[in-house]
Amino acid sequence: MAKRNIVITGGAGFIGSHVVRLFVNKYPEYNIINLDKLTYAGNLANLKDIEDKPNYKFVKMDICDFEAFYELMQREKVDGIIHLAAESHVDRSIKDPFTFARTNVMGTLSLLQAAKLYWESLPEKYRGKRFYHISTDEVYGALEMTHPEGVEPPFTTAASSSEHHLAYGTEFFYETTKYNPHSPYSASKASSDHFVRAYHDTYGMPTVVTNCSNNYGPYQFPEKLIPLFINNIRHRKPLPVYGKGENVRDWLYVVDHARAIDLIFHEGKIAETYNIGGFNEWKNIDIIRVLIRTVDRLLGNPEGYSDELITYVTDRAGHDLRYAIDSSKLQKELGWEPSLQFEEGIEKTVRWYLENQPWLDNITSGQYESYYNEMYKNK
Ligand code: NAD
Ligand code: DAU
Repeated sequence: MAKRNIVITGGAGFIGSHVVRLFVNKYPEYNIINLDKLTYAGNLANLKDIEDKPNYKFVKMDICDFEAFYELMQREKVDGIIHLAAESHVDRSIKDPFTFARTNVMGTLSLLQAAKLYWESLPEKYRGKRFYHISTDEVYGALEMTHPEGVEPPFTTAASSSEHHLAYGTEFFYETTKYNPHSPYSASKASSDHFVRAYHDTYGMPTVVTNCSNNYGPYQFPEKLIPLFINNIRHRKPLPVYGKGENVRDWLYVVDHARAIDLIFHEGKIAETYNIGGFNEWKNIDIIRVLIRTVDRLLGNPEGYSDELITYVTDRAGHDLRYAIDSSKLQKELGWEPSLQFEEGIEKTVRWYLENQPWLDNITSGQYESYYNEMYKNK
């Protein structure tokens, strides 16, 4: 395998840390540079197991710092960028949209322009280079909950080869679905996607974009539904269910997303878009009941012990009803499919959080305390 110098942005975050781990372990001949600003969501404790590997380096940098990134491109002779750094939490985007525009839009543009200037200065130009942008299914907007007459959801559809595919509607997000973002977060991600495609169309940069559904698994910041609720169940704190808990999300185990990123970085076609998803739709309230059952069982509590923690609260503003990715293009063209069924993935995930309480405690107390308490005093 040829030597490569790859920057992974946002590598100290949830998904980024899984991507860094996979690349560092799988490709000892690559030079992996984890570039991260270490915002509240970045945590180097996510990478303790690989931090001493010779092919790994951490650089603390803001993706909006054009000069510093251009200098790093030259110094490290970067030939591949896998871009995950972003502000990623919808609720925070509703409170503070400017930070999302700055990081997600201007930060992405800054990386693109620095990569363009450096790669165009080389004799081989863009040959052997790649700018891979990680995006979200939220850019497509929201889907309806429709079902064929006489069939009650969730139902099996023909959209996937998976016998486990259950859906809450007959429509899906395809790579061709028109963008229709609703939150400041998804609007900022949509804008960054457009810039990436524009750099291909205008300058010929070899880009690829993927849009993925909700991830779950170890090392997710406990502001997101699954780790927040596992932690609250354990500490017998209220579980704030937005609205009626009827919203549907399509869940994918984070390691399967990282596997897809590896495959697409190496084999995906230039200028293409690939949807990544688990064909695994769940209503929030049903997933919350699975979490309660699993945590209670693993802690030795009687069945139903934590049901009383469910607390219905005011809905999220502009709350998208349903997300459902059709990832059959990725399955057919590149042969990817999720390795874990949801039941297995959620059991592994709950066990991980229960066994790694110090990781959670470090976030919910100590250095993170003021931020965490300010954001979560009502949760
Ligand atoms: P995260 O919030 O856990 O991590 C984001 C990382 O980016 C953190 O390490 C943070 O320090 C870093 N970062 C933020 N601003 C930065 C800046 N200005 N400069 C450098 N680094 C900065 O996010 P995540 O859930 O791991 O998501 C990673 C990417 O995947 C994002 O682009 C997100 O939009 C996308 N995505 C996430 C999901 C999901 O379910 N979590 C699904 C689909 C797509
Ligand atoms: O679809 C991909 C997206 O998934 C990613 O692009 C985002 O970065 C990621 O944060 C995630 O967005 P969601 O808004 O879907 O995830 P979150 O975990 O915040 O919420 C999942 C669902 O649970 C959503 O319908 C809102 C609901 N919810 C969430 C929280 C935090 C609650 O009911 N209560 C809560 O306290």
